[in-house]
Amino acid sequence: MIKSTFLVLMTLVLMLLTLGVQAERVENFVLLDQTGNAHELYYHQSATAIVLMSQNNLCPSTTNNVTAFNKLQEEFEQRNVRFFLINSTLKDDRSSVVAFVNEHAIQAPVLMDKSQIIGEALQLNLAGEMLVLNPNNWALTYRGDANPAAIRSLLNDQTTPSPIVAATNTAQVPAACKVDFPHKNTGHEISYAKTIAPLLRDKCVVCHTEGGLGPWAMSDYNMVLGFSPMIREVLRTKRMPPWHADPHIGAWKNDISLSTKQLQDLVHWINAGSPRGTGPDPLQQTKIANIEWPLGTPDLVLNIPAYTVPASGVVNYQFPTIANPLDTGVWIRAATIVPGDREVVHHILAGTIDTDTTQLRRDSGVFDNYLIGYAPGNESHTFPTDTGVYIPPGGEFAFQLHYTPVGRETVDRSKIGLYFHTEKPKYFYRQDVVIDPTIKIPANISRHEQVAYYQFNKPALLHDLIPHAHYRGVASRFELLKQDGTREVILNVPNYDFNWQRSYAFVSPKSIEAGTKLVHTTWYDNSTANLSNPDPQREVPWGLQSWDEMLYGAFSYTFVDETTQAPIYDKILARVTQYVGFLDKDMNGKLSWRELPKQLKKRLVQGFKAVDTNGDGGLDIQEMYEISKRQQQHNQDGEKQENVDAR
Ligand code: HEC
Repeated sequence: MIKSTFLVLMTLVLMLLTLGVQAERVENFVLLDQTGNAHELYYHQSATAIVLMSQNNLCPSTTNNVTAFNKLQEEFEQRNVRFFLINSTLKDDRSSVVAFVNEHAIQAPVLMDKSQIIGEALQLNLAGEMLVLNPNNWALTYRGDANPAAIRSLLNDQTTPSPIVAATNTAQVPAACKVDFPHKNTGHEISYAKTIAPLLRDKCVVCHTEGGLGPWAMSDYNMVLGFSPMIREVLRTKRMPPWHADPHIGAWKNDISLSTKQLQDLVHWINAGSPRGTGPDPLQQTKIANIEWPLGTPDLVLNIPAYTVPASGVVNYQFPTIANPLDTGVWIRAATIVPGDREVVHHILAGTIDTDTTQLRRDSGVFDNYLIGYAPGNESHTFPTDTGVYIPPGGEFAFQLHYTPVGRETVDRSKIGLYFHTEKPKYFYRQDVVIDPTIKIPANISRHEQVAYYQFNKPALLHDLIPHAHYRGVASRFELLKQDGTREVILNVPNYDFNWQRSYAFVSPKSIEAGTKLVHTTWYDNSTANLSNPDPQREVPWGLQSWDEMLYGAFSYTFVDETTQAPIYDKILARVTQYVGFLDKDMNGKLSWRELPKQLKKRLVQGFKAVDTNGDGGLDIQEMYEISKRQQQHNQDGEKQENVDAR
């Protein structure tokens, strides 16, 4: 009797185990590779199979496995199988992995899993261990040595792949080849009251509160418990908190990301079943203090025109303007935005447009003076010490608003508060844009690159960067290219998200030598695999609307040698610099005949040699500037003549 009960029990246990093995589904994740590119597992749902191999620089036998892996990739890549290595060890870093990749001629990206949360979930044991996943249902169909049969079984039988889970014998392998997960099972020791709730309060509650932008409020333990699986998912896929800069590059004032330790704590705590533990619940006591003007009473408050946000649907970006009500010029030192309805106001960008700004420039959505980018947690912007933005009388204040409907119609009345310097500051806070209005993104392309630059003619300090693209923009980068040819990445946004327009403010301003180019690159995914793509069949031009695209990188800076007593900024020169920066495709600092746009070619058919004053066969910024000034003079004379004629 006892024996048979035991047998039944054992059978049940075995059945459960087998079921467990068959049903082992790999959850989605996003990881950055050794070069800082992002990879999302579920992006590859149209692949025939996904092959993942655990990699580790120090394990001697990895070499053999990697050689086998490379061979498999050569053999199966043509058949729409995708290959990735994953490095979950704590000992390797990007540069050692880059060296390893070069040494072993690896083509596949190496996914860097520094927090180990993905490697733990995949239950990696050894370097060189290969996993095969079926993208139809994300089931793990194989774990073991590099083995072509494991891939073939998926290619030949898409519907019912048989699990070939090989047992891995870890007893024989050298220690260097084992993947160690020291924190894996520590979740039950993590205190909700002391660690988890304070973390959520600091990093999430600003949006996830009653009446906040987040879709649910972290109002107490039970809410967090209920949302735990979803929290783990948004952490694995780097969706939350909404901060998209590569943590390896730069230090940012307004960084709202989690540290590796915080990420591990949160995931391990959830893995352990989100235990409540003891102590009062800090989230129950959290009330977001709602101080309307945290910087004090503003010198000027402007009401942004009210907007009725519908209950549902997609609301196009709004671009209201307000005529400047001031009759004297002012120096702005800071600004605060107070959203009218926090639940629907996703972000607001604010700036001013000068009276003499052309329609073309207005239509491109460019501010002459940028003031502030609001997102929850980024309510105020104080310019660097002793810098200011001068707003001349006339002109207008301009805004870009993004609303997200929440199921009820509401009227948003947001406002901006401005703070003036009492005395003229010493420096100008300047803003310009790397732009390319000539972009064309081919149809059905999964990674299309567009590059432009802005060359500084004087030494400067860089304060903020704002990458901007639309629904097809997937990654963005800013680099400094010095005159000696050295390059430095200063901001990498590997998983750009149109829904989150962010500025990235340097903790300490970045020094720029005269002659340095600020190079801005954006990658666009115009394929069907990009789920937010409005139309993969279309060749996409530049345009303000979100179904068109932009290469647009805004930046703010001060010139080291410019004081407000002695301005050196030249608006025409700035425009010419922008212009050369997108026409100069080979980035050699001058426009060859081939790089000139048609119109200019027509005008210079006879005169190219004359305007190429240094005779080097190309038109540099200075030479283009001379042409531009002459043109400007010509236009003004023309206008005067017209005025005379009109009388
Ligand atoms: C700047 C505001 C903001 C911050 C900070 C923020 N969230 Fe969110 N969160 C949102 C918004 C808006 C959404 C819904 C839209 C989206 O998913 O992008 C969301 C969605 C979510 C979802 C998914 C809900 C769903 O229905 O899909 C989870 C889970 C979540 N957030 C958890 C977190 C956690 C955990 C943190 C902190 C580590 C955090 N959020 C920080 C604004 C924020």
